[in-house]
Amino acid sequence: MTLIDGKQTAADIKKEIAAEVEKMVAQGKRRPHLAAILVGHDGGSETYVASKVKACRECGFESSLLRFEDNITEAELLKAVDDLNNNPEVDGFIVQLPLPRHIDEQRIIEAVNPAKDVDGFHPINVGKLSIGLPGFRSATPAGIIELLRRYHIPTRGKHCVVIGRSNIVGKPVAQLMLHKGDVGDATVTICHSASENLSEIVRQADIIIAAVGRPGFVTADMVKDGATVIDVGTTRVPDATRKSGFRLSGDVDFESVAPKCAYITPVPGGVGPMTICSLMLNTMQAARQRNA
Ligand code: GUN
Repeated sequence: MTLIDGKQTAADIKKEIAAEVEKMVAQGKRRPHLAAILVGHDGGSETYVASKVKACRECGFESSLLRFEDNITEAELLKAVDDLNNNPEVDGFIVQLPLPRHIDEQRIIEAVNPAKDVDGFHPINVGKLSIGLPGFRSATPAGIIELLRRYHIPTRGKHCVVIGRSNIVGKPVAQLMLHKGDVGDATVTICHSASENLSEIVRQADIIIAAVGRPGFVTADMVKDGATVIDVGTTRVPDATRKSGFRLSGDVDFESVAPKCAYITPVPGGVGPMTICSLMLNTMQAARQRNA
């Protein structure tokens, strides 16, 4: 069994990005600049945004964090998005989700200029991904593909079972695994909460991508010997032994599943660090396009 080290892979990629940034700067170009909008004080969102700002520093990017209180109106938030769309100093930006309930999330996503949508959430970028055109790819799926690429895990003709059908992970990663390419060309099945015989289907998988958000959902009896298992779950479960009061739990029952696998990602330290890394790659792509 090989443990897929997302933390190390992400560190390697950030070093590669930082080297490219220094080259850009030496040529007199501006550093890539990522902005983030954070509304309210949700603990998870605070942590994610702080990690994104830290990753920007590691890559040599400029970053800006725009904070707003929970009571911001939708009109005010749309104005903040529009300002970033029109700010020539900003290459790309994200609006951290979830947003307060009085704000229509989809409306905000669709207000972002697709050319600055480094989260890849705008329907234009989702559509481009779906038909294999270049565009910004949602960060977690792109990170998973990069891990498979860097670990030289064969995908061509293999059966990939994705568990979960979210717009951010399940659907886009299934599309990417389906596309022709060095990583992809797989036979793809998507399972979800209404799937009958889910265990039976997952047992046929050469590659399992678990993105259901249910700790320990994938158990050893659902995994074929020699399978590759990618665990996207990052559910916070209470843990009194931790200073934070919680730990992250994956969708895979790691202890029982790992011994059966050819490759497996841990939680934490697997897909998570790659997600932020993909955001940095997307920002780099936005900056390259600005310089082109
Ligand atoms: N909330 C959870 N994941 C994400 C993400 O990838 N991007 C944004 N903007 N918000 C999130």
